[in-house]
Amino acid sequence: PAAPSAPAMLAPAAAPATPAPPPALDANGQVRPIYLTPPQTLSGTGPVIGIDLGTTNSCVALLSNGRPIVLRSREGYNTIPSVISLNAQNKLLVSHRAKNQLVLRPTHTIYGAKRLVGRPYDSAVVKQVRERFHYEITPDAAGRAAVRLGNDVLSLEEVQGIILRECKEMAETHLNQKVERAVVTVPAYYSEPQREAVRKAGTMAGLKVERILNEPTSAALAYGLNRELNKKVLVYDLGGGTFDATILRIEKNVFEVLGTGGDIFLGGIDFDNLIVDFLLERFQEKEGIAFSGDGIALSRVGDAAERAKMALSERNTFEVHIPMLMMDDGGRPRDLRVMMSRQDLEKICDPLLNRTIDVVRDVLLDSKLRAADVDDIILVGGMSRMPLVREKLKGLFGKNAQASVNADEAVALGAALYSGSVDKVSSVVLIDVLPMTIGVAMPGGGFKRVIERNSPLPAQRSFAISTSQDNEERMELSIFQGEDNHISANEYLGTVRVEGLPKGPKGSVRVAVTLKLDSECVLHVEAREYSTRKEVKATLATRYSPEELQKQLQVSKEAMSAAEERRGADLKDRAGRFWGFVKKALGRGK
Ligand SMILES: Nc1ncnc2c1ncn2[C@@H]1O[C@H](COP(=O)(O)OP(=O)(O)OP(=O)(O)O)[C@@H](O)[C@H]1O
Ligand SMILES: [Mg+2]
Repeated sequence: PAAPSAPAMLAPAAAPATPAPPPALDANGQVRPIYLTPPQTLSGTGPVIGIDLGTTNSCVALLSNGRPIVLRSREGYNTIPSVISLNAQNKLLVSHRAKNQLVLRPTHTIYGAKRLVGRPYDSAVVKQVRERFHYEITPDAAGRAAVRLGNDVLSLEEVQGIILRECKEMAETHLNQKVERAVVTVPAYYSEPQREAVRKAGTMAGLKVERILNEPTSAALAYGLNRELNKKVLVYDLGGGTFDATILRIEKNVFEVLGTGGDIFLGGIDFDNLIVDFLLERFQEKEGIAFSGDGIALSRVGDAAERAKMALSERNTFEVHIPMLMMDDGGRPRDLRVMMSRQDLEKICDPLLNRTIDVVRDVLLDSKLRAADVDDIILVGGMSRMPLVREKLKGLFGKNAQASVNADEAVALGAALYSGSVDKVSSVVLIDVLPMTIGVAMPGGGFKRVIERNSPLPAQRSFAISTSQDNEERMELSIFQGEDNHISANEYLGTVRVEGLPKGPKGSVRVAVTLKLDSECVLHVEAREYSTRKEVKATLATRYSPEELQKQLQVSKEAMSAAEERRGADLKDRAGRFWGFVKKALGRGK
């Protein structure tokens, strides 16, 4: 079912005439792939390609005679839109052809999957996205977010997999040989389950993900590999869906992350939404009636908003004209015609850009550096082309950003450079950090921090737990990631089950649990019984539903909703203005 709180205009004729068949689930309750037939085995040999799997655009690069090159799409572009769509004939379209459907068939066009992948349906993040995206998001049997496309339900791994398959095919066409291996990049701020989801998406596409690389680290590689540098650099990456700020120390070919921060809800999409807001306000002023168009009309405004934003990076004024945006009560067509200046745009974008600067300041603090200690600024992501971005950074650092780095290609180029190190012992050393604290749940729902954010990777910490009942043979420990003191506002990673404990009175059996993060930020768990020093089985396989967890940890409903409120309010606050206006325009909000 569509989100009940979403304005009706968001789902134009979205309800299918006949109820869709239930999604086909596999033995694990996961949605079965419909469009992808994953190969049984992946050879693990042959060329390795680099893929920047972006929220809005993806980019493929590979090493050719030792130099990284970006591949062109069929249509001749250096990046492809990360969009899939079902056309009126029920044919699956990918990339450019799919993006063309965004305005025509908004409910059948899936974009922004990167924001949703690896997330529970019930999370505040998914709730927030559901209110804003035009396609339908539903839970799968395991409670994860999935999407409906026509009569089918797709997992987000499959959506990402379809985009990765397109990337793989581009490389195969270029190389004229099979490609089964890739280095794929993710935001530094990605959580553990999201990283796992990317690996799975790769496998579904027939790609073995040899390494997951953080986007800023990858951009820094493109900038500094084999250049004998000795510098501290800031990578400022403002893309379509996420913002990352990372400070690295580059010493010859050692790339060490000193601090990272970001916002998974700050990207071009959010700027576009504010511009839509502005355009609709102007429309109302000029036409004397409120905008009351349907989802298609709203998509057209979104499209125009993005065009205006991009044009205003190059020029000072831009006329937005959308013919026949909607019909008025008298059945007359009304156009939207607004002259926008760069000043208008900068006024709209200022608060969002200030948030990125706040993040940069935090990262400086975390890295124990002053602005003057940063030698170079590397701009990544399409949004960083906005002149105001450069201005704000110049205000903080007193110097201009590097012009040598291509904002759209740097991440993929870095991944391609790194792909050259996958098969050999190499002199390239990457030292990343943990982006968000990992810890365990306490009875009642408190969050005990175990590995603090910004700890260098690999990292490991141990702690002791003891039995709370006589002859207890197994104990469980739920792991979360985030910065809140209550687990409900953090992300659930899974539950560790420690089994095969010796019998004894309660409290007498003690177990040392070790959480280990490898250099790719993948979590491993080990447990050792104290008296015998024997290793006991510990697996991070179990995932409880929110209700089961709540019961097991005896979390009160009040504490849980208070924490969720905190997280939800934070997200709402960030995205709220847009919907506030649309609701106003529809005469149903405050
Ligand atoms: N010249 C420009 N001026 C302003 N914004 C631009 C310009 N060119 C592209 N953009 C914006 O950049 C965004 C896309 O950036 P990019 O392709 O780097 O994102 P992405 O890599 O897909 O996303 P992410 O890295 O967040 O996953 C879009 O919102 C687009 O409107
Ligand atoms: Mg990007």
